[in-house]
Amino acid sequence: DEVNPGNVKQQLSKLFEASLKATVPNELEIDVEPLVAACTAKFGDYQCNNAMGLWSKIKGKKTEFKGPPSIGQALMGNLPECDIVESCSVAGPGFVNIVLSKNWIAQSIQKMLTEGIGTWAPRLQIRRAVVDFSSPNIAKEMHVGHLRSTIIGDTLARMLEFSNVEVLRRNHVGDWGTQFGMLIEHLFETSPNWEDEKEKAVGDLQAFYKESKQRFDADPAFKERAQQAVVRLQSGESKYRTAWAQICEISRREFDQVYKRLGVQLEEKGESFYNPYIPGVLKLLAEKELIEDSEGARVVFIEGKDIPLIVVKSDGGFNYASTDLTALWYRLKEEKAEWVIYVTDVGQQQHFEMVFSVARMASWLPSDVNLYPKVNHVGFGLVLGEDGKRFRTRSSEVIKLVDLLDEAKNRSIVALTERGKAAEWTKEKVEETAEKIGYGAVKYADLKNNRLTNYTFNFDQMLNDKGNTAVYLLYAYARICSIIRKSGKDMEDLKKTGALLLDHADERALGLHLLQFAETVEEACTNLLPNVLCEYLYNLSENFTKFYSNCQVVGSAEETSRLLLCEATATVMGKCFFLLGINPVDKI
Ligand code: ARG
Repeated sequence: DEVNPGNVKQQLSKLFEASLKATVPNELEIDVEPLVAACTAKFGDYQCNNAMGLWSKIKGKKTEFKGPPSIGQALMGNLPECDIVESCSVAGPGFVNIVLSKNWIAQSIQKMLTEGIGTWAPRLQIRRAVVDFSSPNIAKEMHVGHLRSTIIGDTLARMLEFSNVEVLRRNHVGDWGTQFGMLIEHLFETSPNWEDEKEKAVGDLQAFYKESKQRFDADPAFKERAQQAVVRLQSGESKYRTAWAQICEISRREFDQVYKRLGVQLEEKGESFYNPYIPGVLKLLAEKELIEDSEGARVVFIEGKDIPLIVVKSDGGFNYASTDLTALWYRLKEEKAEWVIYVTDVGQQQHFEMVFSVARMASWLPSDVNLYPKVNHVGFGLVLGEDGKRFRTRSSEVIKLVDLLDEAKNRSIVALTERGKAAEWTKEKVEETAEKIGYGAVKYADLKNNRLTNYTFNFDQMLNDKGNTAVYLLYAYARICSIIRKSGKDMEDLKKTGALLLDHADERALGLHLLQFAETVEEACTNLLPNVLCEYLYNLSENFTKFYSNCQVVGSAEETSRLLLCEATATVMGKCFFLLGINPVDKI
């Protein structure tokens, strides 16, 4: 594997790999992976924890070692010469503590400043990935669950793109279900001129959906006509296709408003796209003798699961699972994606596990889940209201996402006005800044928690300028930009001519944290955990604050070096914001 120059953990692992080889006698035929991790111990920046595990494998055999500490000593002694490590010591039961060379840290940061932060990007072994996210349903409401999927999915896509992976950002919209029968039939019956009236015929799509659903449930004759409409739609009758496309278009425009505000790029390939491929894919599965008849339906039985995956319903129709199996086949075989990632609520975990199992049974995927091509379901918890229940409006309606984003923005305008910005800035500048802060706050509040936990939506909390919030972080970033601006120095010039030194303890701590950006994004990206990056960003800001309150920058003897450290902090923070889909503001 290629080694990432910014990834300390990876570089130290390489060194300990060599040391392990030299330490463990060949004839024992013991193969161990180096265990190296950053630590907050008093005596080191990193720690190698191999001694204990190794001891349990070699004790009883004839070696020079008397216990884990002596293995630790040997691992330390066999470490190859390098610029990275300043000193090592063995502690307790055999931990090897590593103190990094502060010159090396400084040089690495300076190198990043001149060569760009892209040099610290993760090196993944794949070229192409699919991220399936957002994926609302046509005519039904796009709810806070879809907002979570949109926010989390966008971040994962950004992290992969930063890692130089081509990402197919897929909006798997629910545009192909039996609900279209009743919608189309209702449209025909209530607006004979629907083709010319377009949106007017439908009006508010959610209300339109409700009306037709009410008729569907209450009127058996209507239900009958709606069911016939589905058949005619699915057989491709043009009038029905046109009406379907018209309804989809109205939904699409609503979804796009949300994506535009959030700055999220997505390419729609809805359920309907995969429909023509379903029979062929089912035939492939049947040829492998994976499909059986069961109570009139066609199903796949999966080892270890009580219920089978239904791939053709007893009425002969296809379902969510047939579509997802086909979409997965298409992504792996036609689009040649090496990693397919699905972002939905945890409630769909079982569904995806079953689809993935069938793909393994069909040998579309290797049986080792860690090998590429691979698939992952990225589940997330619920968004709760203050009452601890599902987040809804007072009248317990689903919250409209545009209303939610409007409120975040409006509250931010109020806060900026209170700080006197409305008088100082143009209206456009206030609006633009309020959007960045408001939408950033909504995103960060979602991303900072481990995605599997439920989180409580609270405007006051997320828009607070203190604590672990986007607002606090955006202010911190703006402050750093202003320190640099006010110094009046040409930073491009300083990057080339100035030297970065880390003599003060708080400079060194900040420098070390900056350097750990590389291994942190890699972890967040490969484990699909945006909260890891949020935590890093928050700690970075705390480290900077400590440095800034103890080390004078402008006007000090160390001005050049400290300005470079400010610049590096702004660069790393800026990249974190970008990866989280947050637009920073350089003046607040
Ligand atoms: N439309 C679904 C929903 O709203 C989410 C689709 C997720 N993607 C997929 N390939 N099944 O719950």
